[in-house]
Parts: sequence; structure tokens; C-alpha cells
Amino acid sequence: MTKKSFKGITVLLTAGPTYEPIDPVRFIGNHSTGKMGYALAECFAQQGARVQLVSGPTNQIAQHPHITVTPVTTADQMYAAAKVLAPQAAILVFAAAVADYKPKTPSDKKIKKSGNELTIELVKNVDIAAELGKQKRPGQFSVGFALETDNESAHAREKLHKKNLDMIVLNSLNDPGAGFRHDTNKITVIEEDAITAFALKPKSEVAQDIISLIWERLYG
Ligand code: CTP
Repeated sequence: MTKKSFKGITVLLTAGPTYEPIDPVRFIGNHSTGKMGYALAECFAQQGARVQLVSGPTNQIAQHPHITVTPVTTADQMYAAAKVLAPQAAILVFAAAVADYKPKTPSDKKIKKSGNELTIELVKNVDIAAELGKQKRPGQFSVGFALETDNESAHAREKLHKKNLDMIVLNSLNDPGAGFRHDTNKITVIEEDAITAFALKPKSEVAQDIISLIWERLYG
């Protein structure tokens, strides 16, 4: 079989969680480790792509010299960085676990304990995949992820349309060994007129499956 090469292609990838500040010492975040996003970056780079990786806070380290990491903290920063890089990319992959909401007015001083209740007002964050979906140019291919607990395929399909994606990678929390904090993942890839299910396997192999499918759709 000939090697599936992405030589000359630029891939924009978002990965990891975002942290939304409450005050200088606290934030709203999530359990994303960035493993899946970094595995995809490595795999794309090994197959010849130049990768622009916009990454939220994570312990992961990009190894390949063709991966350029732009570290960010918040969803707003992730969007600002991705928006600048998107026009040059042929493939956009949204693997980040972006916080849906952020504190409306983060305090510039540490919030002191007082009273039995504390209410923090939250406002919706920018939807990076949806915004870049609106700005997508002809020929640009975009891939999103969805982690669902119920009505998985229906919710994933909804996101495919809402965010103008070509492909959505569905992880189900109902599958043991899939999702956050695991080195393995079990995915189903949903497209407008195809559904492809894969077995439970290490995240590096899952990345290879996703990338092979993207290659098939673009150049196969
Ligand atoms: N996404 C994004 N920006 C956001 C929220 C999500 O770019 N503010 C991207 C994710 O990277 C992922 C896809 O959109 O590729 C779906 O993310 P998910 O959190 O499942 O979707 P939401 O639209 O936030 O829907 P919900 O949380 O209600 O399920």
C-alpha cells in the first residue's frame, strides 16, 4: 500500500482543555489531558504535514519538528490564535475540550471566603469550531469531536451540521476505556452519509484511524 502522505499540507489542530479564570488563583476547567489532540498532531506530522497546534494547558509535549505549538489558556485566546492560522490550513481539527462558559467578570483579586453561598455569573464562550465553520473556504476539510452520554449519534449529527463540519468523531462515555483519562479510546466517525465504527484501541492508533479516513476522503 502506498503511504498516505500529507506532504505540503498545513493542519490546524486545537487540543487540550481551556481554563477560564474566576480570580487570579482559580479557574473553571475540565479533565481533558490533550492526549488525543497531541496524538493526532504527531501522526499528521509523521505523514508529512505541517501542524499548527493551538493547545490549552496540558503536560503533553509535541515531539515532531513539524509541529508548531501555540500555547493558550482561555477559549478566547484559543479562538484568536486559531482564527489567524485557519486560512492557511487545508485541514482543521477541533480536538480541544473548550469550556462552554466563562465567568462574566473575573475578579482581579483573590475572592475571600464570606457567607455560606457564592454565586459566579457565567457567560457563553465563543464556539471556535462553529465560528471557523462559518469562515470555511471551499476545499477546507474540518473535523470535530463529540463526547456524548445519550442519543449519541443524533447529537453528533446535529453538531456536524451546526458547526459546518465534514466529519465528527464520537466518543461515548458509555464505552468502558473511552474518553478522558484513558490511554485508549473507542470511536465512531459520523459523516453526512457514512458511519464508521472502530474497536477500542490505544489513542495513537485511534489517531491513525482518523487520519487515514481523512486522507481517504480528501485524496483517496
Ligand atoms: N468546540 C469548540 N468551541 C466550543 C465548544 C466546542 O471549538 N466553545 C468544538 C470541540 O472542540 C469539538 C466540538 O466543538 O470538536 C464539539 O464539542 P462539544 O463540547 O461536544 O459540543 P458543544 O457544542 O459544546 O455541545 P454540548 O457541550 O452542549 O454537548
